[in-house]
Amino acid sequence: MKAVILAAGKATRLRPVTLTMPKALVPVANKTLIGYAIDVLKGAGLTDIGLVVNDLDSPIPQTLGKGESMGVNLEYIVQSEQLGLAHAVNLCRSFVGDEPFCVFLGDNIFQDKMQPLFHDFVASGTEASIALGEVSDPTRYGIAELDGNCIARVVEKPKEPKSNLAIAGVYLFRPSIFDAISRIKPSWRNELEITDAIQTLINDGANVCPYILKGWWIDAGKPDAIVLANQLVLEDLPYTPAPENKDQIIGRSEVSHRVLLGQNSQVIDSVIRGPVIIGDNTIIRDSYIGPYTSLGDNVLIEGSEIEASIVMSDCIIRDIPGRIDASLLADSAQVVAAQRMPATRRFILAENSYVQL
Ligand code: DAU
Repeated sequence: MKAVILAAGKATRLRPVTLTMPKALVPVANKTLIGYAIDVLKGAGLTDIGLVVNDLDSPIPQTLGKGESMGVNLEYIVQSEQLGLAHAVNLCRSFVGDEPFCVFLGDNIFQDKMQPLFHDFVASGTEASIALGEVSDPTRYGIAELDGNCIARVVEKPKEPKSNLAIAGVYLFRPSIFDAISRIKPSWRNELEITDAIQTLINDGANVCPYILKGWWIDAGKPDAIVLANQLVLEDLPYTPAPENKDQIIGRSEVSHRVLLGQNSQVIDSVIRGPVIIGDNTIIRDSYIGPYTSLGDNVLIEGSEIEASIVMSDCIIRDIPGRIDASLLADSAQVVAAQRMPATRRFILAENSYVQL
């Protein structure tokens, strides 16, 4: 079975981070979001993967290439206008051929490896199988209503939801979905909705089955959701003893268990309480790094406290009073105290930047 990952889209809800970086490459616990999708597919034995991207010049092909380093074969499919999930799936028609296939939304991240979903589908008589997860705010998702073991109805972002079971971004289809897509019309948000194509299958009398997810699932489309996903992934890190390497843990430092420290990174006169992941060549001096923090490569943290945050590569945080919490800093961002009088606040912010003082 082949798979397609949908990673085009405008990602406006994650600006300014996504002004320079596609959402699929945003790191969660120092691994790209799309890396988690690829891991699930690979774990289920799906290694031929089509990746739907905005254009071939996007950083996604430049970063992931043909997928050799991840043990998968990646092929790129360009969706130059983001006209909806069903439009994106339709572009994958020749890539998937006449076989059943999986559609995976590239910004969804799961605790569940979903092996039974993939395992049971090909031999089953069902036309489609959809991963569902319970949510507290069903108006933000595609929502499924069940009838026994089948899905009776799906509605995209309903105003008055009849259930709290959300469509969770992993779909197994047969080629019949392409005929269903050819019969749908754009929705109120002017997109061809895959949810409407699924409803068309149901209206045709096809068997569409739910797969109820185990554990957590995050649609990581917004900064808060990315920060939460980072926390949940770090929470799942297995136990590792406290690092003690004297070249890396220096002076009056105190580093707990479940702290993963990259090559050539140094902790100088600082306290780190895991779970924490730190990339390569990062320096932490006179600082506190609290639980659920991910620091990328070449980061410098001095005289500051931070927890439950994502700091991407090449960032600098220096002499910040108070504790930085639940924050998301994209590559090369700097948060520093004024080095001389007047001790003013100074901001150089991109669209949708957020500063809380
Ligand atoms: O996250 C789960 C939800 O995802 C489902 O509950 C909804 O039924 C489903 O429609 C979808 O809703 P979103 O509004 O969250 O979809 P979003 O626009 O964020 O797109 C999801 C992914 O698909 C994202 O990685 C971008 C990509 N995409 C999106 C569009 C609209 C494409 O590749 N092409 C597109 O045209």
